[in-house]
Amino acid sequence: MLRGGAVDIKTAKEIELMREVCNLAAQTLSCVGDVIRPGITTQDIDDFVHRDTLARGCKPAPLNYRGFPKSCCTSVNEVVCHGIPGARILRDGDIINVDVTHIYRGYHGDTSATFYVGTPSERAILVTEAARHSLELGIRQVRPGARLGDIGAAIQEFAESKGCSVVRQFVGHGIGRGFHEDPQVSHVGQWGRGPRLKPGMTFTIEPMINLGSWEVRILDDDWTAVTEDGSLSAQFEHTLLVTTTGCEILTARSMRLPSSEIFPDYWRTD
Ligand code: MF3
Ligand code: CO
Ligand code: CO
Repeated sequence: MLRGGAVDIKTAKEIELMREVCNLAAQTLSCVGDVIRPGITTQDIDDFVHRDTLARGCKPAPLNYRGFPKSCCTSVNEVVCHGIPGARILRDGDIINVDVTHIYRGYHGDTSATFYVGTPSERAILVTEAARHSLELGIRQVRPGARLGDIGAAIQEFAESKGCSVVRQFVGHGIGRGFHEDPQVSHVGQWGRGPRLKPGMTFTIEPMINLGSWEVRILDDDWTAVTEDGSLSAQFEHTLLVTTTGCEILTARSMRLPSSEIFPDYWRTD
């Protein structure tokens, strides 16, 4: 993290390393989608992510990060983020966000998706597809000269138009040598406000969208964030690079995400 809230501009060499680590994280996330089904535990997911991360020559950044005990976050249904993998068994109709962050040659790549377990309910589809589409709209704002506030404005406008709410307590973040660098990327905001984006910035956008209200509380494990009202919550995350012409999705996937991208036309994206 740089002092005084200054945002780091990555060099060409750093950008190449960010491309590599982000691509490896994206591959792990794609493979997780094949593992998800009713009857497995969130620990099974962690075991898979841990092994797969190491197999790609990376380290799992969450493990021992500020005392976090596992290699990924698994956030089921009303869990907003930072769910700790454990004995919880996935049931038909659940939704689960799996958030993976890899470290490779000193750089971080951070990405997450919400997956459907078995057959989803209408409510599960609504909140999950709202989260997926709101990330896409946020990403579309990313180009040199745009304002940080444009990202949050685009996300908030869409999510609220679908009757959902946007979590305030957790934000996207700059990323590079540090897991969490400046700037903080709010998922709510006002058009035309905030600092301007510049080529060479790398940061995440990771909106958490709730079916009910945006309030969250933290469980006694000091990590798990749940919706205050018990409503469903969904999240997607990409690591992005601001280019001279727009944006590169560093954690983009080459194929459709198993157990997740199963409603391709839910909201037209073009
Ligand atoms: N991957 C999360 C993020 O998107 C951070 C997880 S911190 C952990 O920023 F310690 F819970 F892993
Ligand atoms: Co992140
Ligand atoms: Co993450």
